[in-house]
Amino acid sequence: MISDTFSRLEKLKKERNAVILAHYYQDPDIQDVADFMGDSLALAQYAVKTDADVILFCGVHFMCETAKILNPDKRVILPDMDAGCSLADSAPHQKFKAWVDSHPDYTVITYINCSAGVKAASDIICTSSNAEKIINSLPEDEKIIFAPDKYLGAYLQKKTGRDLLLWDGSCQVHEIFSERELIRLKTRHPEALVLAHPECDENILRHSDHIGSTTSIIKFAHDSNLEKFIIATEPGVIHQMEKENPHKTFIPLPTNDGCACNECPHMRLNTIEKMVVALETMSPEIILSEELRLQALAPLERMLALS
Ligand code: 13P
Ligand code: SF4
Repeated sequence: MISDTFSRLEKLKKERNAVILAHYYQDPDIQDVADFMGDSLALAQYAVKTDADVILFCGVHFMCETAKILNPDKRVILPDMDAGCSLADSAPHQKFKAWVDSHPDYTVITYINCSAGVKAASDIICTSSNAEKIINSLPEDEKIIFAPDKYLGAYLQKKTGRDLLLWDGSCQVHEIFSERELIRLKTRHPEALVLAHPECDENILRHSDHIGSTTSIIKFAHDSNLEKFIIATEPGVIHQMEKENPHKTFIPLPTNDGCACNECPHMRLNTIEKMVVALETMSPEIILSEELRLQALAPLERMLALS
């Protein structure tokens, strides 16, 4: 039955000339059938160059929307339309636009984890891979708004030495990692390195040996001579790390409510079965007005040119 589902998916993919893109926070089963995996930047870059007619995007809504903004002529479908993002939701676009309009002398750099409406109200988009570079590309005296993630913003403030005006948003997954558990794990495994995503609170980042995007965390673990790592991001990344480094040990950091694992509830709504239905019915599909798409495209293109 399960193998029927996988062969049905393969058959539909060929019939539709579809490509499957997946983020590292997807279930291992989805990661294993993906044609391309990446962090938010790599997925956006891949979406520009694919020649498939259909993009089946296994990630969350803002990622699928980004693929559609960059690919108006392709059909972008997702397994579950409810796969949202708490960080994107923390910046409702009308409220965000009013705030930005009240700071007309600021350049607005917005993390890609936001809706098309928020992108449209921004000057440049960034991801965790290129945020530092994008901030540093602006003149020293430029007044900068950074949104919507206050933790990533605080981290970038420290890294770049710039005074950023921050929106008060956060990721529900990264903000609940437990500092107490991290200290306990470090005591028990003194030889382990801590690898963290910059969406984490400073109380986690200050104990970390490497801070970066999902791709950068996976690459660091691969390139390191050391054998044990404590992982402070969504544990989906551990699937790739274990595949690439079967002899190394990866310990997911628990949350402050005692849960041993901290999966993103939005990312994990996608399933192989829903992927089959999406390709069968060509829905749910991302549809955007051309006016909004063009407004959101300009700051995304600025990011791609700077990346
Ligand atoms: P990256 O894969 O770009 O590091 O993003 C992490 C994330 O939270 C995506 O929602
Ligand atoms: Fe959004 Fe956080 Fe889930 Fe990423 S991990 S999709 S930022 S809620």
